[in-house]
Amino acid sequence: MSSHPVLLLLSGSLRSGSSNEAALRTAQAVAPAHVRPVLYAGLAGLPHFNPDHDTEPLPAPVAALRAAIAEAAAVLVCTPEYAGTLPGSFKNLLDWTVGGTEICDKPVAWLNVAAPGRGQGAEATLRTVLGYTGAHIVEPACAQIPVHPQSVGADGTVTDPAVRDRIRDVVALLTAAEAQP
Ligand SMILES: Cc1cc2nc3c(=O)[nH]c(=O)nc-3n(C[C@H](O)[C@H](O)[C@H](O)COP(=O)(O)O)c2cc1C
Repeated sequence: MSSHPVLLLLSGSLRSGSSNEAALRTAQAVAPAHVRPVLYAGLAGLPHFNPDHDTEPLPAPVAALRAAIAEAAAVLVCTPEYAGTLPGSFKNLLDWTVGGTEICDKPVAWLNVAAPGRGQGAEATLRTVLGYTGAHIVEPACAQIPVHPQSVGADGTVTDPAVRDRIRDVVALLTAAEAQP
């Protein structure tokens, strides 16, 4: 097992060819060597949140989600906006984090890859929901970095060097943040 700090990457999009996932794959590609970026792939398999099931033994996908968050030193979120707020599937993921303590005090930031002026509703909801979870929002690492679908290369990462640099800066700021006591 590597001792490198884990940066957990959470995409709010289930769409193949997602620009949000492309941004996170780029974060994976540009992360410094001492960081182990892990792209969470369980969003589609999470059950609908039900407080009746938020007890031990947890549904296996939920236990895996909470374990992934527990293992992470920091979390980077990248989600589209649907109908002015978060996609339901991603809000569902966040609902499952409320009953656990894994995300509490953990450094978290988000990337908004929508076109300029778009995606503010998703950001506002993220801020509200993460506030309820007790996550430590790392403000300097939260950024709007528009990703145009045509700038995604064959390897699934963003090819634009300026965008890659900005995502590299976000990763550096987030992974430098300490967990809040
Ligand atoms: C059902 C639906 C609702 C959407 N609502 C909004 C919205 O309210 N605001 C916005 O900026 N974009 C909205 N969009 C556009 C998506 O946020 C946009 O397509 C985004 O790039 C999708 O991210 P992805 O490429 O990672 O899947 C909507 C798209 C869909 C399919």
